[in-house]
Amino acid sequence: MKLTYLTSLISSFSLAQAIAVPQPKDLTSLQFPTTNKQDLLKRYYDYDHYEEPIRGVNIGGWLVLEPYITPSLFEEFRTNPANDDGIPVDEYHYWSYLGKDEAMTRLTSHWDNFYTEQDFIDIKNAGFNLVRIPIGYWAFDTLPNDPYVSGWQQLYLDKAINWCRANGLKVWVDLHGAAGSQNGFDNSGLRDSIDFLQDENLQLTMNVLEKVLDKYSQDEFLDTVIGIELINEPLGPSIDMDKYKNEYLIPAYTYLRETLGRDQNIIIHDAFEPFNYWDSFMTLEDGDHYGITLDHHHYQVFSSGELQRSWDERLGVTCSWGQGATSEYHWTVAGEFSAALTDCAKWLNGVGIGARYDGSFYKNGVSSYYIGSCQDNENVSTWSDERKQDTRKYIEAQFDAFEMRGGWIIWCYKTETSVEWGVNQLIANGLFPQPLTDRQYPGQCNA
Ligand SMILES: *[C@@H]1O[C@H](CO)[C@@H](O)[C@H](O)[C@H]1NC(C)=O
Repeated sequence: MKLTYLTSLISSFSLAQAIAVPQPKDLTSLQFPTTNKQDLLKRYYDYDHYEEPIRGVNIGGWLVLEPYITPSLFEEFRTNPANDDGIPVDEYHYWSYLGKDEAMTRLTSHWDNFYTEQDFIDIKNAGFNLVRIPIGYWAFDTLPNDPYVSGWQQLYLDKAINWCRANGLKVWVDLHGAAGSQNGFDNSGLRDSIDFLQDENLQLTMNVLEKVLDKYSQDEFLDTVIGIELINEPLGPSIDMDKYKNEYLIPAYTYLRETLGRDQNIIIHDAFEPFNYWDSFMTLEDGDHYGITLDHHHYQVFSSGELQRSWDERLGVTCSWGQGATSEYHWTVAGEFSAALTDCAKWLNGVGIGARYDGSFYKNGVSSYYIGSCQDNENVSTWSDERKQDTRKYIEAQFDAFEMRGGWIIWCYKTETSVEWGVNQLIANGLFPQPLTDRQYPGQCNA
């Protein structure tokens, strides 16, 4: 695909008119509408059956690349079988290594093929009622020196929303990458940088968020898009949380509710803060919650301590998440968790970084120790019966725990190679409840 052709298309996406970023306000001075609670409730739950919890799945690795989800895109750069030197570590570097023309050629093929309408039909048929679709800021606008081509990812998002509407699925639109990165994870598009709140980055991300809030709260989307996540996984301990709240969350809320006057649901990730951290944020004395849903993510594979847990310990933590996040102050949903019991999937921790499970992890001088083997991790036929049972048990326990509150959205629907991280492969291997309410291990969290 040629860039000249692109340029004309792209210009139609650039909303040049700069919308003024609302000034930060003191929380106490904000007016919150409370009359639309019933509408919001309908949108929070499945629109037509809103007694049902959210039972969703994430569309990972599609509009925001993650090396471990589509390793084939990144393996093309391999020069050395012994190490990952020269392989881009994230989507930002994928674009910058290839240049816009070649990256567009390869990514257009990826966008066209990694997800098609059939996937959304299969998701619906598996019983899910919602998909959460990650998208990066660069789909809407870019910094002057960014390597990305903007705009196209939006077409695919809108196509996916149409497929969801046609097949009876609801959607959370999830802004997954901020300019400068909100967490330094490769899944933000830019690894090893946490510069989201730097002024230029914040300004751009805020402009993008306003476009997202404006577009996906319009009538034509409201029957299908039932939530907009303001930003995925900001790394609370590493950012200025006051600045984040006052110059990002509150202006976004004000823009949607006051400037636009719309009642789309707002999803706020917990920023890895304790459950009760958010109890006093944007809550009314009477416990109303302004149409704000808190999104908690739950994994037990990103530290050696978690990987070493016994089954009983893992189950105890899982069930405590259900109980702990039952908030009187906000609706809460587990917007990410997985079936994974190891971190063995190649590049799960990032290109060039191994797995803690088998002791091959090494990053910034931090290494790991051996817990178990990662050999044949992606070949289910080599898994012990115990591992298969534990995987199924773990999925069921998480469903039970998270249905104590608003529901769950598992990460993610498919990967090229990883079974643990791919719902479609878990289903194919009988490791996943079908229907979703089926229980081989009922009542695990009732003890
Ligand atoms: C998976 O494991 C089985 C049993 O050891 C083996 O026969 C098969 O070849 C393996 N498949 C792959 C793709 O490695």
